[in-house]
Amino acid sequence: MPDSSVASDRTRVFPLELDRLYPVVVRGEGVWVEDSAGKRYLDAMSGGSMAATLGHGRRDIIAAARDQALQLSYVHNERLTNPARERLAAELVEVAPPGMTRVRFTTGGAESNEAALQMARSYHVERGDTKRWHVISPAQAYHGPTMATLALTGRPGLQRPFGPYLSTHHHIPPSTWRFDSTGKAALAALDKVLEEVGPENVSAYFCEPITAAALPAYSPPELFWKGLAERREQHGFLILYDEVVTGMGRTGHWFAAEKLPLAPDIIATAKGLGAGYAAIGGVICQDRVYQAFANGSHKLTHGHTWDGAPVTCAVGLRVIEVLREEGLIDRMRVKGPHLRDELAAALADVPMVREVRGHGFLLGVEYVDPRDGRSFLPPELGTARRVDLTAMDVGLIVYSTMPTRDGYAGDQTLFAPPFTTTDTELTQMVERFAETIRTVAKSIEAELK
Ligand SMILES: Cc1ncc(COP(=O)(O)O)c(C=O)c1O
Repeated sequence: MPDSSVASDRTRVFPLELDRLYPVVVRGEGVWVEDSAGKRYLDAMSGGSMAATLGHGRRDIIAAARDQALQLSYVHNERLTNPARERLAAELVEVAPPGMTRVRFTTGGAESNEAALQMARSYHVERGDTKRWHVISPAQAYHGPTMATLALTGRPGLQRPFGPYLSTHHHIPPSTWRFDSTGKAALAALDKVLEEVGPENVSAYFCEPITAAALPAYSPPELFWKGLAERREQHGFLILYDEVVTGMGRTGHWFAAEKLPLAPDIIATAKGLGAGYAAIGGVICQDRVYQAFANGSHKLTHGHTWDGAPVTCAVGLRVIEVLREEGLIDRMRVKGPHLRDELAAALADVPMVREVRGHGFLLGVEYVDPRDGRSFLPPELGTARRVDLTAMDVGLIVYSTMPTRDGYAGDQTLFAPPFTTTDTELTQMVERFAETIRTVAKSIEAELK
């Protein structure tokens, strides 16, 4: 039998973490995955990255991909199109916020974000507003590992050692309890940046409407969104949402944009569109963005080999059908708050747990030093890593991070089950997670004494 986990000195893969043992996952069914030793894990992270939104082993999605591959597997998108691509674009426009009329396909999240960034810049250039290129964004974010998307966050921990390659964008702090939860401080920071850069030079405000891994399930307060909308109106920059995680249902809406008091000009989405069965993303824009090109050069200079390929689009189409047929988005809208409450109740007596946030099936748990209930946990304790490893021991996959060195967030865990998780499985996930956190908290409290 092959080893059930792989160390960096036993593989030809270049792993992301060289001192981590990688469990070898050999099969998946529903919300369960199994390693090569036969150990089963409850997948509370939708494939580990929030992509496998509909669970593993879905024969209907596999059949959709197979049927399309038999009919036509691949044609390029620059001079040719195909029915799956045309239909998927129409379906996405249907479920996107009002006024959005055009879709450009990509193969993933970072690519969608870069395409959105280029679309915004080109929109201004098409209109003769060529000075606009600066981007303002929340510092505590993740938009992908490419140079352009790394530059969009304000996290030195992520940007190191690529500084010389990264454009200088501008960042504002989150409106969390650590800073100013009213949103006033973030708006003041936004105004300061606008003044320093000159609002006439700003292309876009770029953000996750509800944050994923960087600050799980955080979203600014209404005051901030309204203030942002006023500033867009006044200064003419565009608002871009990274809905790579939140798009396609995750928060109990087709897009998180739906429930915010501000409509974005461009949405970038990915993960849930392929549900882990295809590498596909999309950039969706308001008609006025498209019209700038229609009234201008008639060209969008952005395209990759796999954009809008028939097989990936056939998967996207079936994903949308499943979301509709099984009423999954409505279920998450109703079930999400209960799940958040269950998680909060299960962790209520753990002093290390400061906050449990949730929007639909995107939930986050924030940890603090139990000695004062507010400081970051000492980084050398490696709390995030302990949580994930302990969870694996009890047969649960979650995803924790420790971005302490960036100054905006400490140890935290993302909990994002597949939309298809049954009530019983959700309860099991919560139980296993509570067991994990109790075990970790006990050892940490002992070490802090
Ligand atoms: C919010 C967000 N944006 C962008 C990305 C990058 O997506 P990808 O890894 O598909 O390039 C991620 C990936 O986790 C993400 O969580």
